[in-house]
Amino acid sequence: MDKREALKALEEEMRQDKALPLHPANLVFGEGDPDAAVLFIGEAPGQREDELGRPFVGRAGQLLDKLIVSIGWQREEVYITNIVKRRPPLNRDPLPEEIEAYRPYLARQIEILHPVLIAPLGRFSMNYFLPEAKITRDQGKLFRAGDRLIFPLLHPAAALRGTGAMQSLVEAFGRLPKAVEKCRSLDLASVPDATPAPETGQKSLL
Ligand code: URA
Repeated sequence: MDKREALKALEEEMRQDKALPLHPANLVFGEGDPDAAVLFIGEAPGQREDELGRPFVGRAGQLLDKLIVSIGWQREEVYITNIVKRRPPLNRDPLPEEIEAYRPYLARQIEILHPVLIAPLGRFSMNYFLPEAKITRDQGKLFRAGDRLIFPLLHPAAALRGTGAMQSLVEAFGRLPKAVEKCRSLDLASVPDATPAPETGQKSLL
């Protein structure tokens, strides 16, 4: 089975899984190039995403698109998804049990996509990989979490709420191409695993 078929099968399996929380809201599985070097992972779909069945198509998504273009890439060349793949009512934060329920599916999606680098958008997604990381301290740094390389970024919706946050996201985003190049040349086994990051913060690999 090739990647596209594997993703289709996974999506269909999720659709049929009536035990998943937030079922039967629209499933927003994710989209993009299955061979993308970079996988962006947000929190959960909002209203617009729920309506269109696509991730990051509202205001936060427009900012994400602009940021992608600002570094000379296009949205079609990356892959975009969320941890929780259905909209929580009234756009509330995803609950820990919802994140847990969707976790195995996200793990399989990542396994299929096998990106060079994962860029979590926001603290929920970052903490999925790096439970001890802090978004303001650790955004724009590069970490190893198990066999994945993680480059945390502020959630675009948070950046839309403040100029300081916007500036720091723009700066961190600008380092993304360099982070990808670094990841391509890194020998994973030779770098420390940041999953149980010490309180003082883990050193960036970048
Ligand atoms: N915010 C998210 O975290 N994901 C989306 O898809 C849209 C907004």
